[in-house]
Amino acid sequence: MLDYIEVNNSSASIKIALQGAHIFHYARNGEKPILWLSEVSNFEKGKAIRGGVPICWPSFGMNNPSLPQHGFARTAEFKHLGTQEIDSNTTVVTLKLTHSKESLKLWPYKFELLFKVSISDKLTMELTTKNLDEKTFKITQALHTYFDISHISDVRVRGLDKKPYLDALTNKQLVQSGDVLFEEEVDRVYQEVKEQILLVDKNRTIHIENEGSSSVVIWNPWIEKGKRMSAMRDDAYNDFVCIESANAYEDFKMLKPGEAHTLKAVIY
Ligand code: BG6
Repeated sequence: MLDYIEVNNSSASIKIALQGAHIFHYARNGEKPILWLSEVSNFEKGKAIRGGVPICWPSFGMNNPSLPQHGFARTAEFKHLGTQEIDSNTTVVTLKLTHSKESLKLWPYKFELLFKVSISDKLTMELTTKNLDEKTFKITQALHTYFDISHISDVRVRGLDKKPYLDALTNKQLVQSGDVLFEEEVDRVYQEVKEQILLVDKNRTIHIENEGSSSVVIWNPWIEKGKRMSAMRDDAYNDFVCIESANAYEDFKMLKPGEAHTLKAVIY
């Protein structure tokens, strides 16, 4: 088991592993969890937890081929800076990662990465990257949220109609028509997204609002890729969909020395 922080307040409960500042549980009191977590995920040091909200940073996917897929933050040990009780309904947890000898070998920049999580009847995540180096650096990133759903055939993602997207499976640039449905593997980077997105399930609708971002990744591995994925059951693709609040593809960020950028996601 990895070390983690647990918060229970009048609105909700959360569990955040220090490795990766990885939220692996969030539920509003009396409701089923909003986040999906693989029951066979092993919580091992150096391996990303399958489910919850992995932080993909400083590179999303294989955008920087000299880094591991989705960067190194999701397996790095964050420091817990503090837990602040705002009132009985709202708690704020802050975690930080800074450059280290190991990170500088992988990615030669000095940085500070702050992750502020506000736990109430909404889950608010703010990921702030600050450039502490003398050189400008480029980041792509994502809050790679796995949502718990009733069944993949019962959900649709609303709010992306007419948005352009990169289909990562074919490398084609296409345009969305209507809601996103899941009838096959889906791996897409939607662009120019400024509006709220809805995950419409049989018995509930989840709202996702992003700031500091204009790209959203929608992913479900479906049957074949689902079997090849580590740390999940072969048929687990039925139980989750990833809607990732991102700065991916053309929505990368260049940060000059001293500059900072915040990627924010609010989920309720
Ligand atoms: C998604 C990517 O964001 O993450 C997929 O678009 C990838 O291509 C998925 O398979 C999971 O990645 P990983 O590294 O956690 O297995």
